[in-house]
Amino acid sequence: RFKAVIFDLDGVITDTAHYHYLAWKELAESQGVHFDHEFNERLKGIDRMGSLDLILASAARQRQYTPEEKLALADTKNKHYQELISTMSSKDLLPGAVEALDTVRRAGLRIGLASVSKNAFTVLERLGITDKFDYVVDAATIARGKPDPEIFLKAARELGVAPADCLGVEDAVAGVTAIKAAGMFALGIGHPFVLTEADVVITSLKEFNLAAY
Ligand code: G6P
Ligand code: MG
Repeated sequence: RFKAVIFDLDGVITDTAHYHYLAWKELAESQGVHFDHEFNERLKGIDRMGSLDLILASAARQRQYTPEEKLALADTKNKHYQELISTMSSKDLLPGAVEALDTVRRAGLRIGLASVSKNAFTVLERLGITDKFDYVVDAATIARGKPDPEIFLKAARELGVAPADCLGVEDAVAGVTAIKAAGMFALGIGHPFVLTEADVVITSLKEFNLAAY
């Protein structure tokens, strides 16, 4: 019944959350902000500057950061993150990811990627799956990050498919909200208690069953 499947990347196809965690933790602590896994959860699906704003909002000394300072901090985090992902390879694909992509391909549906990460192209290359996608949204062209539907709507438009004919796959609360706001069917990867807005929630792409949605 669907004509396209639009995947998120981080936490769905590969687990980069740990690398984001390490890079944000070092950055946060350099600013006197306590950073743990719980905080990291809140950053899932949130773009780089949005994540930095959340971290700085809880800076011990509530001081103002200039736009230039913020850009420098975001850049420091990103350089560290890029160092961490430079050794990624196909072994970093989450279980079931390639099988899910191949199932969608065999079913004759279009495949899109909607990640707000400006490192998405690099990660796809390192994973060796770039050519499995018909269209990958360039995060640099997106004005409003998730939970805004912009990125999913752009993917659908570029794939030439109406939003109502798209299945979106997401692990983040903000991402599921974005899919629903785009008028698509939302498949959540994670826990139903967390991804309450999703139409269906599975634990990982190992359970992906296109015919069931
Ligand atoms: C994804 C991740 C976020 C990350 C964001 C931006 O949505 O889930 O944790 O902050 O991408 O990534 P970037 O590579 O552009 O800093
Ligand atoms: Mg994600």
